[in-house]
Amino acid sequence: MDDKSRRRIRVLVDGPYLVTGRIPLVEDDMVIGADGEPTCWEQTAVYPEQETYALCRCGESKRMPFCDGTHTKIGFDGTETGCRDPYLTQVEWTKGPQVDLTWSRKLCAEARFCHRAGDAWTLAEKSDDPAARELAIEEACCCPSGSLVAWDKETGRPIEPEHAPSIGLIENPQAGASGPIRVKGGIPIEAADGTTYEVRNRVTLCRCGRSGNKPFCDGTHVTAGFKAKA
Ligand code: FES
Repeated sequence: MDDKSRRRIRVLVDGPYLVTGRIPLVEDDMVIGADGEPTCWEQTAVYPEQETYALCRCGESKRMPFCDGTHTKIGFDGTETGCRDPYLTQVEWTKGPQVDLTWSRKLCAEARFCHRAGDAWTLAEKSDDPAARELAIEEACCCPSGSLVAWDKETGRPIEPEHAPSIGLIENPQAGASGPIRVKGGIPIEAADGTTYEVRNRVTLCRCGRSGNKPFCDGTHVTAGFKAKA
């Protein structure tokens, strides 16, 4: 079996994410603009390549980002309550002249890339203006969880950023806070019961242990003040 066919993230019962298939692991920092909102991503670290590794899911490892077994000591409850239905059954649509947007409240990781210049929804509604159209698409494409997706009105197709398969650990250095695990490039995610979630280009997985939508991030790390780094 080659790396591509081994490429997978398995959610272990009340334990970590088991990653196989030599998937690159990097640190992805949110770059914050003058208005205090995120504007783009910057890759700031690359971890040594490994065929298999276990990423902490409970938020309490002393060896972040990897699991050190602490989940057993603390009795971590990692029950998966995330919706298994396809993304498009979970979304609200916003229609614009050139661009439509879909958004899933449940999958929103509170990354706030959609807050600039009014917000992505306002921009989509004004998307007959080329600058507004471009920014609406940019904001949607920066969304790490894929909760927000821009759709080309003419082709009816989603506008997706190009991502090679990799896993990013989200940090907001300005706030000194950590975010979820950013899964990029269509990596299959297998639930603890062996079923596979819908494969998507962009997904965020909880790593603070507190999401109400496990294994997906629901933004709870923000109110919890989660810090993966000392
Ligand atoms: S999941 Fe094992 S230490 Fe967090």
